[in-house]
Amino acid sequence: MVAVIIPAGGIGERLGAKVPKQFLELAGRPLILHTLAPFLSHPEIDLIVIPCVEGWRDRLLALTRGLSKPVKVVPGGATRQASVANGLKVLPVEVELVLVHDAARPFITPEAIGAVLAKVREEGAALMALPSRDTVKRVREGRVLETLPREEIYLAQTPQGALKGLLLEAFLWAEKRGLSATDEASLLEAYGVPVHVVPGSPLNFKITTPEDLILAEAILKSSGQEHKEVFRVF
Ligand code: CTP
Ligand code: MG
Repeated sequence: MVAVIIPAGGIGERLGAKVPKQFLELAGRPLILHTLAPFLSHPEIDLIVIPCVEGWRDRLLALTRGLSKPVKVVPGGATRQASVANGLKVLPVEVELVLVHDAARPFITPEAIGAVLAKVREEGAALMALPSRDTVKRVREGRVLETLPREEIYLAQTPQGALKGLLLEAFLWAEKRGLSATDEASLLEAYGVPVHVVPGSPLNFKITTPEDLILAEAILKSSGQEHKEVFRVF
């Protein structure tokens, strides 16, 4: 059995809207429903767990009622990591593989989900990451310290995932040491689990600032479903 945790426990401070960004309307539908759609249509996903920001549980329950797959809504935490940890706690024993995907990345596709799942099955742990198109500099106080080798630079996206046992061990290990990280892969890496990469797409960006929202609207309006064809993971 495969579960996906979709952390939606953030308040969207950088976007600065009156409501948490996962509930903003995008092309007439709440953002989180765009994000859920490809997981609902993917045949390998059995269960969806959503850690939800305080005060929005009822709204989320109303939005997810009657969907084609079971959805569990759990409380979000103070950090993304704490939100995901809340999701991990409610997974049934039959779940053997767990994906985590940001509620704020609405352009993920079933094909991309399948590619990450396949990599997790093959290797134990994987994440989607975007090969850097630009040369990356390390900078301190406005001065370049070094230029990093571009072929080795990937920008972390989601889905990220692992066999459930590995992910639980890594979370427990990090919790004991008070380690915090902004993604699951970092915890797995720190715990010593090799994490493999599935190349992502620029379209799998995270809605973070108001510009991202404008871009997302434009993508949805201009091309309907066409963005799915542009999204190449292979
Ligand atoms: N997230 C979460 N619990 C938190 C913080 C974030 O589940 N305590 C989720 C967000 O809802 C989002 C994903 O993690 O789907 C990525 O986080 P981010 O883009 O940083 O969202 P926010 O924290 O809401 O935004 P900001 O940092 O601008 O406040
Ligand atoms: Mg945040």
